Amino acid sequence: MSDKQPYYITTPIYYVNGLPHIGHTYTTIVCDAMARYQRQSGKNVYFLTGTDEHGDKIVQAAEKEGKTPREYVDGISGAFRNTWDSLEIDYDQFIRTTDTEHKKIVGEILQKIFDQGDIYLSEYEGLYCVGCERYLTEKELNEDGQCPDHKTKPEVIKEENYFFKLQKYLPQLEKQLQENPEVVRPKQYYNEVLGTIQELKKTKEDLSISRPKSRLDWGIELPFDNRFVTYVWFDALLNYISAIGGPESENFKTYWPHSTHVIAKDILKPHGIFWPSMLLAAGIPNYQKLMVHGYWLGWGEAKMSKSLGNAADPVELAEKAGGIDLLRYFLLREMAFGSDSKFSEVAIEHRVNIDLANGLGNLLQRTLSMIKKYFEGEIVGNLADHECANQINEIIDSKADGFHENFASFKFHMAYETVFEWIGLQNQIIEENKPWAMAKENSPDLRPLLETLLKGILTALFYLQPVLPERSKKIFDLLQQTDLDRFPRNISEIQLPSIKLEEWPIYFPRLSLVEKEK
Ligand code: MSP
Repeated sequence: MSDKQPYYITTPIYYVNGLPHIGHTYTTIVCDAMARYQRQSGKNVYFLTGTDEHGDKIVQAAEKEGKTPREYVDGISGAFRNTWDSLEIDYDQFIRTTDTEHKKIVGEILQKIFDQGDIYLSEYEGLYCVGCERYLTEKELNEDGQCPDHKTKPEVIKEENYFFKLQKYLPQLEKQLQENPEVVRPKQYYNEVLGTIQELKKTKEDLSISRPKSRLDWGIELPFDNRFVTYVWFDALLNYISAIGGPESENFKTYWPHSTHVIAKDILKPHGIFWPSMLLAAGIPNYQKLMVHGYWLGWGEAKMSKSLGNAADPVELAEKAGGIDLLRYFLLREMAFGSDSKFSEVAIEHRVNIDLANGLGNLLQRTLSMIKKYFEGEIVGNLADHECANQINEIIDSKADGFHENFASFKFHMAYETVFEWIGLQNQIIEENKPWAMAKENSPDLRPLLETLLKGILTALFYLQPVLPERSKKIFDLLQQTDLDRFPRNISEIQLPSIKLEEWPIYFPRLSLVEKEK
């Protein structure tokens, strides 16, 4: 057993009714960057992602393609996995709700909740949205009577089903949330959950957790009545605990108390209300954190989605953006976590060019080129620092705590704004010291200046590593940095090698996405 502090992070498990797009990619990259950040901070990280494979939506999608559900889910689940692998997402487990172990744990928990009397049979009539896989209330519909997310009219469905006693647990959940307001973040979503609890209480309705097999048989059979399968949300939410072996396992005891779920606001109700109520009923403590982000909006300001057909293909985009890291940086830096953001190629180009090409890339390229030009590429490595080291150290030391606070609380745009202040300062140091003039005068300060800047750049790269893992690794390799799991607070913590630089690529080229498109 590791003595490192555990950290468990999860993406939603994505529906397999279509291919992954930039919306799913954002959540997955957020989790990947956070997992890398926590590993780099010395934690024992477990990062879970996967696919949600049961339910009406999937059966309909399979039928459309003339496939059996099984053939169909294998294909799309594989495509999700391939996409994450191509984007070098470093997950620890990829769960599928069709996995045998998952089905077994769902059955056990259902049985436990049934045996204690919190699941009962009843008849229900309601407005069902297949896209959301849940009943909607009249209030949730738009003015045309449609689901606001899927722009389709829900079906009126009347059937016998099993119900989970949600109402019984709402007061306990409310109390639990009031005692621990930090559990759902950013705060507006915490308030939204409390508001929805009030509305649900008024409806007096419980949660339907089954579907009759006569209508849908692609699901996990209820252990206490084989005429029914489990409602897809009840099945899916349990992935977060079945993946780590279920409530009795050692893995579960290690990781569950340190769990963070990352989702977008579309699935706040199941995660903010259904899931913690299910956990209360199962006698399992609540997750530690629910982090909720906004939507990437495609053209027409609509939420990007498969059904609206306005979603971009992530692997293609990463190629166009000049590499995975550039896309990662754009996504994390552009969106204020919690709010919506507009997605466009113009925005990617703008962000990548300003921060990475002009800011960091230029600083690195200028520094390396001057070492090449004035010293034939020779790095000495153990020189005394130039006096600009004080300025660099001061800014890093005064901002590092803020960086960590922001990063750990998912305020990536603020965390990286800080790092780019350090980078801006170093570009300014070059302008002020004019190394080209120092070279003409054969100044003995030139070499220390350039090597001090190089140490400053490497320091900043440690902080950029969670979002730019591929590029920073290449630069660390070039400059022979090996101890990578740390966040230096002073450039004296960086040891430069004694080497002669021959060649290196342009690590952060300028993008011209928009022209290439024509
Ligand atoms: N299968 C359920 C989740 C079950 S979790 C126990 C589901 N799947 S989904 O494929 O629809 O994925 C929804 C999630 O994908 C969102 O919560 C978000 O993480 C991500 N996104 C999908 N479209 C998005 C945007 N346009 N913008 C931001 N995130 C998006 O719901």
